[in-house]
Amino acid sequence: MLTLKEEDHRTSQTRTMRSLSIDREERNSSALFLVSPGSLHSPMSSSVGGLRMAQDFTHHPVLLTEVVAAFEPVSAGLIIDATVGGGGHASAILSSRPDLMIIGLDRDAQARAAAAERLAPFLGRFALIAARFSDIVVAVEQGRRQLSSSAPVVGILADLGVSSPQLDQGHRGFSFNVDAPLDMRMDPEHDATAAALLESISMEDLIQLLRDNGEAKYARRLATTLLEGQPKTTASLVALVDGAIPKSDRRRGHVASRVFQALRIAVNQELEELSALLEASLPLLSPGGRLEIISYHSGEDAMVKHTMRDWELGGCTCPATLPCVCGATAKGHCVQRRAIVADEEEISRNPRSRSARLRSFEVAS
Ligand SMILES: C[S@@+](CC[C@H](N)C(=O)[O-])C[C@H]1O[C@@H](n2cnc3c(N)ncnc32)[C@H](O)[C@@H]1O
Repeated sequence: MLTLKEEDHRTSQTRTMRSLSIDREERNSSALFLVSPGSLHSPMSSSVGGLRMAQDFTHHPVLLTEVVAAFEPVSAGLIIDATVGGGGHASAILSSRPDLMIIGLDRDAQARAAAAERLAPFLGRFALIAARFSDIVVAVEQGRRQLSSSAPVVGILADLGVSSPQLDQGHRGFSFNVDAPLDMRMDPEHDATAAALLESISMEDLIQLLRDNGEAKYARRLATTLLEGQPKTTASLVALVDGAIPKSDRRRGHVASRVFQALRIAVNQELEELSALLEASLPLLSPGGRLEIISYHSGEDAMVKHTMRDWELGGCTCPATLPCVCGATAKGHCVQRRAIVADEEEISRNPRSRSARLRSFEVAS
């Protein structure tokens, strides 16, 4: 049997899978996508402007060994992979633990199609559900029915961020490198596009959105420019941002990366979705079960860290320097004090994994 690291390297051609992050949207990746040279057909394949935009692929997800290791202590049962993507983490978990089954959620139909191919060898041990985090409870019931399983939920995994196919398919409007309609929806059947968002958002909300995503200094100027300019394409958005931020005051990376990220987070309601996931997770998990979250953005990581610490304190309001007298009961414990990050080997293989932060929480037994 291949080790996880060997499995990571098993095909030769690579494409990058980008992750959500402030200055990393198009430079960083949470995974290397490994394209099979002989790939057929595939529901992932599509042709846009005469170009083949995506192919049958397997991928190399970030912190793979660490994610699998963090689930090692859980007992037999169900893992919910809330961001199944191309199925990379899910397939590693299923190969390492024959006593686990997976309910994989994704709001993106193309990701679910890729996962279906990747997980085919584990037929009968996984269910793929079209759902977003805020629908997780219903999705788990659906998954249980498909698997005919009443096994306990022993783990939940979320590998936040945008996927490589979402970025690489230029027509979806996530990329500042390809001119396309300003869309950015992970689930193109729902939500308003980024262009529509800019038609309806207030000046103050847009300023806040830009500030939250690292554009504090020029937030007001950018917001005014975008609301007046009403871009309908990625190229026109880039041009407006380019004109609003002085050349002398630019940071490393693409001038529009933070603006693209801010809009994508808003379009896909990523912070609200993460909050819904955190709220639903503890009641779903059985005693001793583990929640693992990989984030790529400081705002998300802070939300995960503070929520897990609150759970650990059980809502205790006593001063940290005194013993607890308020009767709070810990809901479990943070598995590590500090987030797990990619090691040098992974970073050198995939420099973009540098931004990943994995945090795990174990529910009290
Ligand atoms: C970084 S990729 C996950 C990659 C996956 N771990 C793998 O090994 O292939 C993130 C995926 O989560 C999905 N996603 C993001 N937010 C979501 C949400 N709120 N609900 C459901 N899926 C979501 C995206 O569509 C994307 O496919």
